[in-house]
Amino acid sequence: MRIGVLTGGGDCPGLNAVIRAVVRKGIEAHGWEIVGFRNGWQGPLEGKSKPIGLDQVEDILTRGGTILGSSRTNPYKIDGGVDRIKAVLADQGIDALVAIGGEDTLGVAKKLTDDGVGVVGVPKTIDNDLGATDYTFGFDTAVHIATESIDRLRTTAESHHRALVVEVMGRHAGWIALHSGLAGGANVILVPERQFSVDKVVQWVERRFEREYAPIIVVAEGAVPEGGAEVLTSGEKDAFGHVRLGGVGTWLAEEIAQRTGKESRAVVLGHTQRGGTPTAYDRVLATRFGLHAVDAVHDGDFGVMVALRGTDIVRVKLSEATAELKTVPLERYQEAEVFFG
Ligand code: F6P
Repeated sequence: MRIGVLTGGGDCPGLNAVIRAVVRKGIEAHGWEIVGFRNGWQGPLEGKSKPIGLDQVEDILTRGGTILGSSRTNPYKIDGGVDRIKAVLADQGIDALVAIGGEDTLGVAKKLTDDGVGVVGVPKTIDNDLGATDYTFGFDTAVHIATESIDRLRTTAESHHRALVVEVMGRHAGWIALHSGLAGGANVILVPERQFSVDKVVQWVERRFEREYAPIIVVAEGAVPEGGAEVLTSGEKDAFGHVRLGGVGTWLAEEIAQRTGKESRAVVLGHTQRGGTPTAYDRVLATRFGLHAVDAVHDGDFGVMVALRGTDIVRVKLSEATAELKTVPLERYQEAEVFFG
């Protein structure tokens, strides 16, 4: 059998660990040939691929990014895109695909399965917002990086008696903000799921200053002030219709400075959260996902995504995984509120 593998969407620590597991088990347990497609769905669209052997995956377990490259290409937005993919797969003798990605990449995987292509999905995203899986790999690493940053920002904030606003990733879901905020002892955590009152934030900040502490405010990039709108970096949209978010942290730091008369600074953690080596947890989860994806291909069980349920890896329908984003439930957010102010 010849099995194709690709990584799509925003990159994420642990992608290489999945590729390595697919290659190792595919070759050693089943004698398959593994073909790596370049840059997400662009690879099968344009026939850009190369065989991946054991040598190519020898040193990649700990490496961030993806040796295959990634993109946000959407074949369903390209005239004749699906037919081109089918023709390339037939031409290259590819029997099935392992697609590693988030909601967009796996949304395409689902449609392709409906269109007769054999695909198994592997969930990745630092945002942890994919449905039907308890966790995605990359999330633990992102939270670790954000928490370490909060720890560092706290000491400088205290030295200068400043408020520090830390903007983290999270377009529709505030998982990174919630977890890093809790782990880092933030005084305010703001998530996209719940509009925030600037007056309330200012009250919490003032209360913190009264007790001679420097407040740390963790805000997800997609968080929205009451009656306001998402803050955008630009109006540009990607092939899946997503705008580029960013700037809410800077905006909020200015509001806090104006309303409290205290110095405030904003730090945008941005892509540092997606870079570098994955944590041990993410390496193990990514590796297990890769191994179970090979099992699904071996069983001919297409149109599924491997998922974490408790400590088990299970298979769920791609349709279930992509039906709805997994956002932070209100009661989970409310747990953290006792620490605000
Ligand atoms: O992968 C999801 C994500 O991390 C979002 O939180 C963020 O909005 C987006 O990627 C930014 O990605 P890029 O700058 O690569 O388009």
